[in-house]
Amino acid sequence: MRAARRRGAPLGVLAMEPTQEVAIGVDAIFASHIGIFGNTGSRKSYTLAKIYHELFEQSSAAPGFSERAQFLLIDFNGEYVDRIDIPGAHATEVIAGFPTKKSYVLATRNDTSDKLPLPKSAVHDPLFWTVLLDATEKTQAPFISRVLTSDYWDNLLPSPSSLLTAISEIVCRATRNTDPTVDRQLSFNFLEEIHDCLGSATTPEFEHVIQDLKNNLHFNSVHRTFYWSTPRTYANADGWDEFLAPKITQLDLDFTSIEDIDLVRFKIVMQYYRDIISGYSSREHLGPLVKRMNERVPSIKN
Ligand SMILES: Nc1ncnc2c1ncn2[C@@H]1O[C@H](COP(=O)(O)OP(=O)(O)O)[C@@H](O)[C@H]1O
Ligand SMILES: [Mg+2]
Repeated sequence: MRAARRRGAPLGVLAMEPTQEVAIGVDAIFASHIGIFGNTGSRKSYTLAKIYHELFEQSSAAPGFSERAQFLLIDFNGEYVDRIDIPGAHATEVIAGFPTKKSYVLATRNDTSDKLPLPKSAVHDPLFWTVLLDATEKTQAPFISRVLTSDYWDNLLPSPSSLLTAISEIVCRATRNTDPTVDRQLSFNFLEEIHDCLGSATTPEFEHVIQDLKNNLHFNSVHRTFYWSTPRTYANADGWDEFLAPKITQLDLDFTSIEDIDLVRFKIVMQYYRDIISGYSSREHLGPLVKRMNERVPSIKN
């Protein structure tokens, strides 16, 4: 015996025969792909709204529906958001009203707009970052995956002395570089990126150390060595690490408050600089990725 059939969602009437009602079967339509085609102004957007409106009208009160069914509508033009903020706007409950519909009005240009709630697993997902950073398949995507699937840096977060030692080792190695084509800004850039990742957990002392390096750390191209101007100390002489490292290791920084996007960024920055200083990864391959990350992180956060 067949169960009594539910009437479909009413969509409208046939244009050529207005007495003929058109209804769509909920199970048949929503379990499949649909396309709505037509010229501009032919009511495509309206039809989409109508289909979903009828679905929620019929089903939202059904037992289990709101717990089990999820619909994600990506609305690039903002056609379906409620316009309660605009007096006189014709639609305040397009498709459905609250609590059936929850709108997130996103904007990358300001940080006051809604934020899309993402689970931690998504924020730490290598694929998420591979897509957002347009990572190349050969070298950049595997690097992201290697960093995010490892908990090496996460395990060091509660131990500021280990992290500060790791940071100072990178700076010491970078400044012992004698290659005349060396990037003279590398230590500052590295420390500034760490500073950015720390956000409100950074300290004036850390900012002072960065400024101190900028003022005093120079490269002598004739002798091919970094040196500190006052007191004059040469990176190719004994005792350089003992001179430079404490400026960093003596800092009092709390890394445990770095969260989510900044944590991903922190791990990528640490691994990137360590890899290129040790010659493990090439700067030409990964540099553009780190540059894109620094450019995009503000809008990703928004
Ligand atoms: N059933 C309707 N009743 C009144 N106005 C409608 C109806 N359907 C669409 N419109 C209006 O017609 C215009 C074009 O419809 P729209 O769905 O935006 O077309 P499309 O997405 O195909 O370009 C809109 O201004 C919309 O408000
Ligand atoms: Mg449209």
